Amino acid sequence: MSQLLTLFLLVLQLASVEARPSILFPLYIYPSPGAWNPIYWALGNNTAVTFKIVINPNSGPANAKLGAADLASYVAAVSVFKKYPNALTYGYVDTNYPNRNDSDIVADIDSWKYYSSDLIPTGGIFFDDVHTTEANALWQLNNVATYARADNFTDVIFNPGAAPAFPDPRYPNTQTVSLSYQYADRSLVYENFWGAASGPAVASNVSGFIKANNHGVAYTKLQAAVYQLPGDAVWNNITGGCAKTKSGLCNFTNSFTGVVDSLYLSDLAYINGVGGNYSAFPNNFMAWAKILNGTA
Ligand SMILES: *[C@@H]1O[C@H](CO)[C@@H](O)[C@H](O)[C@H]1NC(C)=O
Ligand SMILES: *[C@@H]1O[C@H](CO)[C@@H](O)[C@H](O)[C@H]1NC(C)=O
Ligand SMILES: *[C@@H]1O[C@H](CO)[C@@H](O)[C@H](O)[C@H]1NC(C)=O
Ligand SMILES: *[C@@H]1O[C@H](CO)[C@@H](O)[C@H](O)[C@H]1NC(C)=O
Ligand SMILES: *[C@@H]1O[C@H](CO)[C@@H](O)[C@H](O)[C@H]1NC(C)=O
Ligand SMILES: *[C@@H]1O[C@H](CO)[C@@H](O)[C@H](O)[C@H]1NC(C)=O
Ligand SMILES: *[C@@H]1O[C@H](CO)[C@@H](O)[C@H](O)[C@H]1NC(C)=O
Repeated sequence: MSQLLTLFLLVLQLASVEARPSILFPLYIYPSPGAWNPIYWALGNNTAVTFKIVINPNSGPANAKLGAADLASYVAAVSVFKKYPNALTYGYVDTNYPNRNDSDIVADIDSWKYYSSDLIPTGGIFFDDVHTTEANALWQLNNVATYARADNFTDVIFNPGAAPAFPDPRYPNTQTVSLSYQYADRSLVYENFWGAASGPAVASNVSGFIKANNHGVAYTKLQAAVYQLPGDAVWNNITGGCAKTKSGLCNFTNSFTGVVDSLYLSDLAYINGVGGNYSAFPNNFMAWAKILNGTA
């Protein structure tokens, strides 16, 4: 009986570990000596979390456009990830639809595969700036996803930055956005600041917002990046979280369990009102990594 109970609890525990989001980390920081230490430390201290790390040397792959010294810096820094079984790397490819030709996109995918064996992504390809409302974008997305898989990149991520029915003026056509889900293994469906569009009242409820707008797509196919998060003055004031300090951050982070496959959180500010500040590690990085690890 107690063995059965233990087994049951173990299964329950495994099930909840599976549902906890991975970390999606857009690592757009230049790998000067020591610059990537925070992510190595986060990997070493949070072994229950898978880190999906997007490598982006040049608004795209390391290729002939990158100087030898820069290439060597990337090879040295990326090679360190081999030490961490919980690290997966993703090659950044800009689609910039409809302004980029398939041939250029395909060349970037090939660069990730063939330019430097030391830099071959172990996770897959991260396609940025995916425009899902252009008339010809859908078959292009299908093409590049198919091409990536032919290069044996099995995990294909699209970043449209918004999901169906989100009040984002860039993507008013909800039907075409939802079709793009078929081509990607995962889609980054919320890339926005804390409380965007939903107002301060539901700022701490981005996960509810995503869930209400997922159009039935499985959470394992969804990702979120939320930035401009508040500091401790707000987090310590929100109760109901798991941690002794930053209770609200804990509550917020855990609310994504079973809602997205992977998550990026940042307390850094906007750049020109668009996108996150990916030039530095968020101040709160270790805190939310620990929460996702279940050790906060
Ligand atoms: C854990 O993080 C600390 C810095 O906070 C670092 O010094 C240490 O090496 C990390 N541990 C592992 C196993 O990576
Ligand atoms: C795409 O390719 C076409 C035909 O080769 C060319 O005319 C056009 O300038 C290219 N567009 C871009 C943005 O490179
Ligand atoms: C992909 O993997 C398969 C099976 O390992 C292999 O036969 C094939 O050559 C690989 N293709 C590429 C483009 O690496
Ligand atoms: C969270 O947001 C969803 C969707 O907007 C809503 O249905 C739900 O009531 C909200 N929950 C809380 C606790 O605010
Ligand atoms: C803390 O919570 C109280 C009560 O909800 C609110 O009036 C106050 O503005 C909050 N302070 C901060 C810093 O969020
Ligand atoms: C967050 O806090 C609210 C209010 O106390 C609580 O109902 C909810 O269960 C908490 N959620 C998590 C994931 O901790
Ligand atoms: C983004 O981060 C960099 C590096 O920390 C910093 O210099 C810059 O001021 C930040 N920009 C914004 C808008 O927060």
